[in-house]
Amino acid sequence: MKNKRILLIMSGGIAAYKCLELIRRLRDKGAHVRVVMTRAAQQFVTPLSVSALTNEKVFTDLFDLNDEREIGHIRLSREADAILVAPATADLIAKMANGHADDLASSVLLASDKPPLVAPAMNPRMWMNKATQRNVSQLEADGVRFIGPEVGEMAEANEAGPGRLVEVPALIEALSKMPGIAAGSEPSDRSHSMLKHGGLEGLHVLVTSGPTHEPIDPVRYIANRSSGKQGHAIAAAAQAAGARVTLVSGPVNIPDPEGVEVVRVETAEAMLAAVEKALPADVGIFCAAVADWHVASQGAQKIKKQKGAAPPKLELVPNPDILKTIATRKKGRPDLVVGFAAETEKVLEHARAKLASKGCDWIVANDVSAGTGVMGGDRNKVHVVRDGGQVSWPDMSKVQVADALVGAIVAELAKKKIAPAEKERGKKARGK
Ligand code: CTP
Repeated sequence: MKNKRILLIMSGGIAAYKCLELIRRLRDKGAHVRVVMTRAAQQFVTPLSVSALTNEKVFTDLFDLNDEREIGHIRLSREADAILVAPATADLIAKMANGHADDLASSVLLASDKPPLVAPAMNPRMWMNKATQRNVSQLEADGVRFIGPEVGEMAEANEAGPGRLVEVPALIEALSKMPGIAAGSEPSDRSHSMLKHGGLEGLHVLVTSGPTHEPIDPVRYIANRSSGKQGHAIAAAAQAAGARVTLVSGPVNIPDPEGVEVVRVETAEAMLAAVEKALPADVGIFCAAVADWHVASQGAQKIKKQKGAAPPKLELVPNPDILKTIATRKKGRPDLVVGFAAETEKVLEHARAKLASKGCDWIVANDVSAGTGVMGGDRNKVHVVRDGGQVSWPDMSKVQVADALVGAIVAELAKKKIAPAEKERGKKARGK
């Protein structure tokens, strides 16, 4: 928990008093705690006592203009490594499930880029009500994690059942397993620098993601195990950092990142055409697992088995190398070109060779051999290789790798002081 930033969203209920102990324990562990309190929460615990424990201003009002200027509900959620909603009332859960944003707590949650941990506390009948259960199921399907409620005596006389806020140690334990907090997650400073400060406003970032499918005949194709999770997470992180993002994606089974223009393609050739069409870009990140070959002549009809005949031989011809084509362009090369290297052995050696042969600025190398679970999985361990050096990042979620990579890009651009090409183009277009 050391130096981790926790955003605690407190809604009403007698269980709110447990949050005082929670804050104390979290601070003992070195965490920074910021608190948003709903109006109802303030009936049970005063913002003053919470503020005394967090040593920070407590946020209560969506329309506090000063705060909107200084912090804003977007920043409140983005600056946190994890968000905990405790106690979560039936009302706040209903608002979350339906996307309401009529107060600061619900607005922060709606604007958040990470699913929160929710610790409900309410009367057992309210918890068991079909409406609440429907809302909880919806939120779980949306990726929200729940802890509790516990079964027990309620504050109200003669009431028992599920509805008690879980105890503080269990809350801390659950929080410590959240992405962004768990051991091995990227140090918050790096992954947050870009979220806090944006950094890519006015820039166009082009990302390729997923596999390509190279048809053999109308029903068969050559593919690979890429899921698109890493490329899509990078597109989302670049968007969160303020960029206009074009994501050229091969066939994947994951949702499109919000606020990103997605161009769907199937083959390597179509991917290159879409990438060229999307240019100019300030930054190009080539994460797709592009097939190296396609079948020389694709059958117009399904290839049939011929009795007694040998299986058909597939003649393969090379696909265009998209990364190399873009990285070696004389005109219109993005200012920063980042390639990936999927390797199963001699990862750094091969990555360094690719850096030279492809003409890109960085290679993000990862070991995709079978045992690692990287291809298709949720985690990644990468080395960022560039001229004159390399950094190896710890094992992280693909979302954290994306945040860290975008953070590193923001830092690199600041160092290079690249003029935001798109801003310039915009100005020209407006005749300024
Ligand atoms: N790449 C590309 N177009 C291709 C092949 C690869 O744009 N036809 C890009 C990938 O998106 C990645 C980088 O090149 O950024 C390296 O891809 P990788 O599959 O690791 O290597 P290859 O170039 O295909 O080389 P090899 O298969 O020999 O490892």
